Amino acid sequence: MTESLKTHVLVVGGGPGGYVAAIRAGQLGLETILVEGDTLGGTCLIRGCIPSKALIHAADKFAHMTKAAGDAGSLGIKLSSPPTLDLGQTVRWKDGITAKLNGGVTALLKRAKVKVVAGWATFSDGKTCTVETKDGPVTITADHVILAQGSVPVELPILPFGGKIISSTEALSLDALPERLVVIGAGYIGLELGTAFRKLGSEVTVVEALDRILPLYDEQLATPVRHWLEKAGVTVHLSASALGLDASGAVRVKGQDGAEFTIAADNVLVTVGRKPRTEGWGLETMAVDMDGRFVKVDDQCRTSMRNVWAIGDLVGEPMLAHKASAQGEMVAEIIAGHRRHFTPAGIPAVCFTDPEIVSIGLAPAEAEAQGIEIVTGQFPYGANGRALSLEAEKEGGFVRVVARKADHRVIGIQAVGSQVSELSGEFSLALEMGAVLEDLAGTIHAHPTLSEAFHEGALKALGHAIHI
Ligand code: NAI
Repeated sequence: MTESLKTHVLVVGGGPGGYVAAIRAGQLGLETILVEGDTLGGTCLIRGCIPSKALIHAADKFAHMTKAAGDAGSLGIKLSSPPTLDLGQTVRWKDGITAKLNGGVTALLKRAKVKVVAGWATFSDGKTCTVETKDGPVTITADHVILAQGSVPVELPILPFGGKIISSTEALSLDALPERLVVIGAGYIGLELGTAFRKLGSEVTVVEALDRILPLYDEQLATPVRHWLEKAGVTVHLSASALGLDASGAVRVKGQDGAEFTIAADNVLVTVGRKPRTEGWGLETMAVDMDGRFVKVDDQCRTSMRNVWAIGDLVGEPMLAHKASAQGEMVAEIIAGHRRHFTPAGIPAVCFTDPEIVSIGLAPAEAEAQGIEIVTGQFPYGANGRALSLEAEKEGGFVRVVARKADHRVIGIQAVGSQVSELSGEFSLALEMGAVLEDLAGTIHAHPTLSEAFHEGALKALGHAIHI
């Protein structure tokens, strides 16, 4: 027999969009059900952002120790023998982190009095879905539906997932380190994971269709990462496309000059983007409009169907966890009667390569393309004492501030450098608070910290940097 449930708010998808929407709805006293078919926490917590950062951290430690076993280097630290890697243990440690986060999300939902239904939901109309739970089907009807189904990796028809051809999900749970890893796509995931595997000892080759790595960022930001890849011995084939596997299992590639060659591979990691999960849950039964491959929403995340809302990767770029969470929180508040709109001054993007990249707002070329007259100030890590004490200056890092010439309003901040991800909060705050260069210049930044590079970037834009 089918159990029937009725609720005020139904959230489908337990990732950073959906679980945040459900917790906020619960906090606001709204009767809420959250449906999740896999593991609470979604792509970000379980098989994306967090586990990849764990692997990157482990890889970093291993690489430092490997280096110290070779020579004492400038710090005078030498290991008498190289480190060994038990990848199984690394993966178990990473799984421990994701389990902790999953438990945390479960407890937070419970505290907010959200009912969680485990199973895959299929909609039969805009406000009704049936969930196949382990105890049988449950039909849920709701006044408000929040769609938060997220995204899935894009598969290449010539290299379908399976066997040694893997997506980021499998890459984060390998039993054995691939001796030779071929990465297709030099975007966020390909380079973050490619870098980590190189540090762990894999031979890494990257195949990218465009003529540059990290096409989302401007050339100047991507250059330190390109230099790191070169130094680390990662081969990058630009303007190249994968054609499939040959009989021996090597990757066939068409190179820049049109000639074909092969690359031997133990694993092929395909990271050519992600696409919204719009299939397999009855979206076609709902009368919602689409915007290309995404569900169309307005600036309150309303779909074209009354009281059906959509958030996160389902509704468009950037497909980032923090955007999904912000939208989820907002939608819960709108349902509770608050006046909210999704109009952030900027959404920060962070790439955890070596070195890390942060970008928010407009880069100089983007501002100029919009006809905005700008002033910019760029401050190098090489002139920052904290960066020197962290050996972070060698990678060519910098912080760049972009402001409108007319009124000095900050409209973009970009940075590349070791640990620069931790400055992203200050960058976002500056943009969201509508800071002008004089605000940044007049804010005392603690010494010695990397954040002083941001302060000096603003001073430089005003024409009076102290340390360069
Ligand atoms: P991406 O869009 O960042 O990069 C895909 C790359 O693959 C592009 O450079 C593209 O030119 C290339 N490409 C596409 N088709 C190709 C082909 N047939 N052959 C060779 N190259 C090809 O996508 P990625 O890395 O898969 O990441 C997906 C999304 O996940 C990102 O857009 C981002 O939203 C999210 N993400 C965010 C992270 C973060 O915030 N740190 C980390 C990882 C992922």
